[in-house]
Amino acid sequence: MRRVTLTQYLIEQQRAARISPDLRLLIEVVARAVKAISVNVSKGALADVLGEAGTDNVQGEAQKKLDVIANEILLQANEWGGHLAAMASEEVEEVHQIPFDYPKGGYLLLFDPLDGSSNIDVNISVGTIFSVLSNPTQDEEPTESSFLQPGSEQVAAGYALYGPSTMLVLTVGHGVHGFTLDREMGSFVYTHPFMTVPVSTSEYAINGSNMRHWEAPVQRYISELQAGSSGPRGRDFNTRWVASMVADVHRILTRGGIFMYPLDAKCADKGGKLRLMYEANPMAMIVEQAGGAATTGRERILDVIPTRLHQRIPVILGSAEEVERVTAYHVDGR
Ligand code: AHG
Ligand code: MN
Ligand code: MN
Repeated sequence: MRRVTLTQYLIEQQRAARISPDLRLLIEVVARAVKAISVNVSKGALADVLGEAGTDNVQGEAQKKLDVIANEILLQANEWGGHLAAMASEEVEEVHQIPFDYPKGGYLLLFDPLDGSSNIDVNISVGTIFSVLSNPTQDEEPTESSFLQPGSEQVAAGYALYGPSTMLVLTVGHGVHGFTLDREMGSFVYTHPFMTVPVSTSEYAINGSNMRHWEAPVQRYISELQAGSSGPRGRDFNTRWVASMVADVHRILTRGGIFMYPLDAKCADKGGKLRLMYEANPMAMIVEQAGGAATTGRERILDVIPTRLHQRIPVILGSAEEVERVTAYHVDGR
């Protein structure tokens, strides 16, 4: 069988005028960085990549060595190509400017270099999440406010999943497409065209240890799921929680489900747990492009006007029927 690679897929998207040459280059460069991160992740204890880095990031969270390695790989890979105006990362407080010795392009790249870092040392799947925006101030040096565009303005979004196989899942606004890394060939092969999220599901993902901190609508929704066939839903539901958002979202893109990191009393002062610009927005674009829905409980994630680069937000996404139901409970206020 003839295999289509990521490169061929992107060239065809460019010919169809769905992406510019620079956006094609950008995605190719991100894919190259993902391969390097995958190599490092898979070495595990054979290389000096596990454990703490001994530093804190901008969010005050302890950095793992692989958080730092993945961040460095993405920053270095994307500095010199001439396709970017600037970058922003979960691991970097300020906007990362392109060094003066390289040409600048029209795009802004945002990323969570390593998602699910609590899973690194226990050899469970982790990921990378990225979002691409256009630089609104084309000729000026981008500032934080250049990045503060709603998720609906994203021109591309994607994630890499470092699981039993490494996958790159991508949208440029024309459906969601998955590529599997062929490690011998070193190339991404187009294996999952037009991924979709089923409208209905019987599977949900939430960290149940936070139950007592949730708001009333989430308490109600999860209690009804847990009551199963003897409750108002009249059927049983199943729980899955990997604690790597990428892995949980990938499962939802494969067989459906609802993922929630809602507002709770523990994270209310921060606005939520997950980050809007490089976690919630790219995942919301991917899930919507796959036919699912993504809200904060109160509004569509992609409509949120950001106020800060590292802003946090509640996230409810996945199969449309369930997301709509729990969002309606929030609107009800109970
Ligand atoms: P990160 O490793 O980039 O900080 O993100 C971790 C996130 C997300 O991937 C996951 O869904 C969630 O945090 C897990 O949170 P809990 O440990 O509270 O379950
Ligand atoms: Mn993350
Ligand atoms: Mn991270």
